[in-house]
Amino acid sequence: MAITESTWTPSSWRELPARQQPEWPDPAALAAVRERLSSLPPLVFAGEARALLAALGEVSEGRAFLLQAGDCVESFRDVSAPAIREKLKVLLQMSAVLTYGAMLPVVKVGRIAGQFAKPRSEPTEIVDGVELPSFRGHVVHSDEATPEARVPDPERLVHGYYQAASTLNLLRAFTKGGFADLTLVHSWNREFVAGSPAGQRYEALADEIERALRFMQAIGIDLAREPTLHEVDVWTSHEGLLLDFEEPLTRTDSLTGRPYDCSAHMLWIGERTRDLTGAHVEFFSGVDNPIGVKLGPTATPQDVLGLCERLNPNRVPGRLTLIARMGAEGVRDALPPLLQAARDTEVPVVWVCDPMHANLIRTPSGTKTRRFDSIMAELQGFFAAHREAGTWPGGVHIEFTGEDVTECVGGSEAVLEEQLDRRYESLCDPRLNGRQSLDLAFRVAELMRGI
Ligand code: PEP
Ligand code: CO
Repeated sequence: MAITESTWTPSSWRELPARQQPEWPDPAALAAVRERLSSLPPLVFAGEARALLAALGEVSEGRAFLLQAGDCVESFRDVSAPAIREKLKVLLQMSAVLTYGAMLPVVKVGRIAGQFAKPRSEPTEIVDGVELPSFRGHVVHSDEATPEARVPDPERLVHGYYQAASTLNLLRAFTKGGFADLTLVHSWNREFVAGSPAGQRYEALADEIERALRFMQAIGIDLAREPTLHEVDVWTSHEGLLLDFEEPLTRTDSLTGRPYDCSAHMLWIGERTRDLTGAHVEFFSGVDNPIGVKLGPTATPQDVLGLCERLNPNRVPGRLTLIARMGAEGVRDALPPLLQAARDTEVPVVWVCDPMHANLIRTPSGTKTRRFDSIMAELQGFFAAHREAGTWPGGVHIEFTGEDVTECVGGSEAVLEEQLDRRYESLCDPRLNGRQSLDLAFRVAELMRGI
């Protein structure tokens, strides 16, 4: 039976099939962890989720653009200040490029401070010739290649909570404490980026922004007193995959009396867990956060209709973000019927392009990679489909890192296939490096100008 709003509770999802949940070996240990999580403070405040909802409402109406970006999966080993700072720098650079290029506000949402769990298509994987349970993220088990290490351990959910808290704390400090000040726009360019064509283009753009600021000052605007120049909002998001993590962090907002999943500002439902009769759609239908849903090449207009009805019955602008990940080949055919279906429902949605997840390939030696050209081709197809449909291409969703990794091939200072093993560090999918991300931002800004 489909559960209606009146029967929703934070645990009503338990009546329904929940895909992609780890097989925790000890149910009592899991129950104890859930209990502990439910007594810990929320990671975000419901009022913040509402502020993001309002910002996404602007996106759904074509007055802003969404940049959602971060790791494929965050590691428990890599939670240092430099790693967070470098990621933030690239996010701020990309956002400056998009804002300046399109002259629109850019809503910045990180795949950060909680992006710890992975859905997997296959239950097992072969590592160095040995078949092991597939790696599902550090919040479930270790990535070490032994069967013992791959046994799910619920204590890791608690570790995930604390790592999210410390990451979020530093993110708040950086974004509100002066680091993201627009007058520092030059300082976000890192050495390994600055020398590249995209980095040089960025220097020129940063000069222009500085000139614009000096102009404002010259005509008498007191820049020191303009808070928007000195602080930014970077919201958090992750795939709401592990419902045993999301449920205990769901709290009733004291101001509105409504339930919010306080593990992040925005949560999304993955391609593998978005079935309308499943536990994930049920759970997220009942919390008031902004919700995203990934849509792969097999998504149908009926899926879109059902998701709109279930997840945004009150037609709240900004509540529902549909993240299309169709592949460079498929996007031109697969997307238009879905745009039409969403439009027919009259439910406001934010349309975002994830040009990463359907463009995964393997090199002849078996390394997982993505071609920069395929990523751009999907983005072009996404923008073209919106142009034809008269709908707003609301944003991009990408996997990147601030580091100088070699995981995706191509870009204007191309990473070559034979260079992939130089610095391949991702625990899961290949990410764009800092240069490639900036390059992508410039190209997306061009696509936006062409709308
Ligand atoms: C992801 O975003 O990392 C992911 C697994 O995406 P999808 O659900 O689209 O496959
Ligand atoms: Co991924």
